[in-house]
Amino acid sequence: MDLGAAAARLGVAVGDVERVQRLAGDGPSAPLPDKARAGVILERLAVRPEDADEIRAGWPDAGSPLWTPELRWLLDRSIALVRADLGGFEWLAPGPELPRERGPAWQHLYSYAYLALVDVVLDFHREHGITEDVSWTTLADLGRNLAVDRRMNREGWPVMQAWLTLHARGGLYELGRLQHQRGGGAISLHIPEAGPLTPAAVTASLDEARVFFPRHFPDEHYTTFSCGSWLLDPQLREYLPDDSNIIRFQRRFELEPYEQPEGLDPDVEVLRFGFRSLTTPLDQLPRQTALQRAIIDHLRAGRHWQWRRGSFAF
Ligand SMILES: CC(C)(COP(=O)(O)OP(=O)(O)OC[C@H]1O[C@@H](n2cnc3c(N)ncnc32)[C@H](O)[C@@H]1OP(=O)(O)O)[C@@H](O)C(=O)NCCC(=O)NCCS
Repeated sequence: MDLGAAAARLGVAVGDVERVQRLAGDGPSAPLPDKARAGVILERLAVRPEDADEIRAGWPDAGSPLWTPELRWLLDRSIALVRADLGGFEWLAPGPELPRERGPAWQHLYSYAYLALVDVVLDFHREHGITEDVSWTTLADLGRNLAVDRRMNREGWPVMQAWLTLHARGGLYELGRLQHQRGGGAISLHIPEAGPLTPAAVTASLDEARVFFPRHFPDEHYTTFSCGSWLLDPQLREYLPDDSNIIRFQRRFELEPYEQPEGLDPDVEVLRFGFRSLTTPLDQLPRQTALQRAIIDHLRAGRHWQWRRGSFAF
């Protein structure tokens, strides 16, 4: 494969293609599930019917004209890249962001990679004694994220694509209300959009993790739970009541001193999670909830939101 020519045809930088080649090497890929099984698997992954239809329509069947040699190469090597880090828990982009408007193969390439990795990661889970229930609940974040991407008119996906390799490598588990990411000494908490963040649901999820990780990853020793999020911005206390779920969640944490995060704009992230739109002008955004009013008023006052990190004992 001529990487320069492939990059040009994929519409991405040559360095991005070289990175895929370097990280994947000639390591093993994994086949996609049988197309006949796809419907059942997509349903188990909570993929909504409209997204499942698109995915089935763009399926990389042998000989499909939607799939150029470069796209097939990228799909194959992207699966190998993620597979090479099976068991890893750091953020990992599976490949470059693609011009998704070119069609279903382009749009869902990393979803196909995820589907190919389902059996691989299920084996990893089994080796660690993890129940199928936890496996499928965890992996079903694909459907949730595709639905968010649709709601966001495709603005959201570039973030999701690295996010979902955590699931596909056994780096993250959904236990009740929260997702728990393995790490060096700290379990990093993530909060899926799945209804209110009640204190009881959070406590139950933390308790589950305190049993889960020593049992299934006995060689890893956790001393803290940590979190990096817009949800931990103390400025939210100026707007939300003391008994709101977000403020009660904040109270569990000891915050680190504030540092501007690299490669991430907290004002954009707050819009992502509060409105699921990054481009709607402030004066056209809905003011339906206390949080939405807070986000808009704060930004219109010329102030900024913060992405804060905090932790508490495991
Ligand atoms: C985290 C989350 C579950 C908290 O929701 P919650 O339990 O309802 O939170 P609170 O009780 O503190 O809500 C306080 C107010 O803000 C509103 N609110 C909270 N989260 C909101 C959101 N994401 N979008 C719009 N409004 C929201 C609530 O409706 C409530 O307003 P109201 O009293 O006018 O109805 C919710 O924000 C969410 O689903 N976020 C998306 C995922 C996310 O942000 N994850 C973290 C990524 S770093």
